[in-house]
Amino acid sequence: MAYREIVEIGNDVLRKHCKKQEKFDHRLRILLKDMADTMYEADGVGLAAPQVGILRRVVVMDVGDDNGLIEMVNPEITYRSEETQTGREGCLSLPGRQAVVTRPMTVTVKFQDRNGEEQELTGSGLLARCICHELAHLDGELYIDVMDRELTKEEMESRIPEDPPEEAEGEE
Ligand code: NI
Repeated sequence: MAYREIVEIGNDVLRKHCKKQEKFDHRLRILLKDMADTMYEADGVGLAAPQVGILRRVVVMDVGDDNGLIEMVNPEITYRSEETQTGREGCLSLPGRQAVVTRPMTVTVKFQDRNGEEQELTGSGLLARCICHELAHLDGELYIDVMDRELTKEEMESRIPEDPPEEAEGEE
């Protein structure tokens, strides 16, 4: 296991545009492994390379569904549903903060895997939210740029109207 330090808001690296990943080499595989280790250690559902100080278009995510760990290199959203979802969102680079953010309900993303093979994935709900959030990092964007409102400390610790119904939440 190799953990990398997570960059926090205030560091300019989070506001930079990331470069395309050109090489599908050993260094990329180390980066992907370190990013996954770091994400799981921090109890996150997604992590983008700039969050560990690397300005490359690389993200990892695991929202706890059947997809398990997803690695995306040079991802691009090719479809955003008109239907939206409004809910709670946080970021490992903004510790102790949460906001209500509106995102598409469903997105399709095309990307390359660790071997450079073209892949496509369609996700809804939390996965769609996570894809939008992580890909935004690659262009220096944070959820605070698009949020509906920031939650207070009290709201962070209790249910808010935007939370999913309790029965739905407990399903998995
Ligand atoms: Ni984030």
